[in-house]
Amino acid sequence: MSKKIFLSGVQPSGKPHIGNYFGAMKQFVDLQNEYDGYAFIADYHALHSLRNPKEMNENIKSVLLDYLAIGLDPKKVTFFKQSDISEHTELAWIFDTITTMPFLMRAHAFKDAEAKNKEIDVGTFNYPVLMAADILLYGPDVVPVGADQKQHVEIARDIAEKFNHIYGETFKLPEPMILKNMAIVPGTDGRKMSKSYGNTIPLFAEYEEIKKAVMSIVTDSGEGIPKNVYAIHNLLRPATELDPIYKSKTGKYKELKELLIEDLEKFIAPLRERRKEFEKDIPKALAILKAGGEKAQKVASKKMEEVREKIGVKL
Ligand code: ADP
Ligand code: TRP
Repeated sequence: MSKKIFLSGVQPSGKPHIGNYFGAMKQFVDLQNEYDGYAFIADYHALHSLRNPKEMNENIKSVLLDYLAIGLDPKKVTFFKQSDISEHTELAWIFDTITTMPFLMRAHAFKDAEAKNKEIDVGTFNYPVLMAADILLYGPDVVPVGADQKQHVEIARDIAEKFNHIYGETFKLPEPMILKNMAIVPGTDGRKMSKSYGNTIPLFAEYEEIKKAVMSIVTDSGEGIPKNVYAIHNLLRPATELDPIYKSKTGKYKELKELLIEDLEKFIAPLRERRKEFEKDIPKALAILKAGGEKAQKVASKKMEEVREKIGVKL
């Protein structure tokens, strides 16, 4: 029996942080032994916020190194870059023609963008349609993502259902896979940890960077327990271990932060070192991406052939 498939993507929009890791990327690693995986770099998705070509280029390589450093094994997971497989944008266009504007206007990301900026680009509006194409081309059983991406995977399911209804059974309906009990990781200012808020603890941070970030965590405490420090600490140690420590150090914020710094360093140091190793041989990393792209291309081409036939454009 063939293995189940997972697929997910990360935008090359900057340095990943521990929220990205615990919310989404860690799951890829956990799944790779049981599933056939696809982990791709969503560079066309990132275009809506990143218009500096040099930075785009650097960030793409950076995600590739991140994938390798967190322990994704290219023998088990196919790495590729979205822009290398033109079927993604081709299928997105076909999906555009069966997706209504009111349906996309209900998406959280659109509503948030609209609240902030009245002149939204069409790419931002269409973001979930491209994401549906990313997913459905490869027929994954599950799509591991952070909680804020759940709606996008549901939109992909809805688009697949609609296409299947109009043109006949073509796409497998994917399930979002979101870690249970995985609350949104708070940043140093107590809001959601996010690249766009500058409140992150980078996943590959140097010791000094970890120290600086942890020392800046806002300690609005409830009864002497600094809840943001605790929430981040809880990613590394279970409550059964943490609770007695936090109780015995009630009100001693500095000591608790120092302990968190040590625990973060223990967790981050090996990842950081692995990343530095991969960084020494960029051509090797790029060769992995190329080989993955060739494999993904075959799957995507085959599916697109089927789609072209179903919609009647193939002669
Ligand atoms: P950012 O907000 O930092 O730009 P992205 O939007 O690029 O992050 O998210 C990449 C992945 O990481 C998504 O699957 C998202 O759900 C997850 N993620 C991002 N921030 C957090 C967080 N603070 N806690 C948990 N998961 C997160
Ligand atoms: N939208 C995702 C994010 O911001 C990235 C992404 C693009 C993705 N296409 C995807 C994730 C397909 C999973 C599947 O994190």
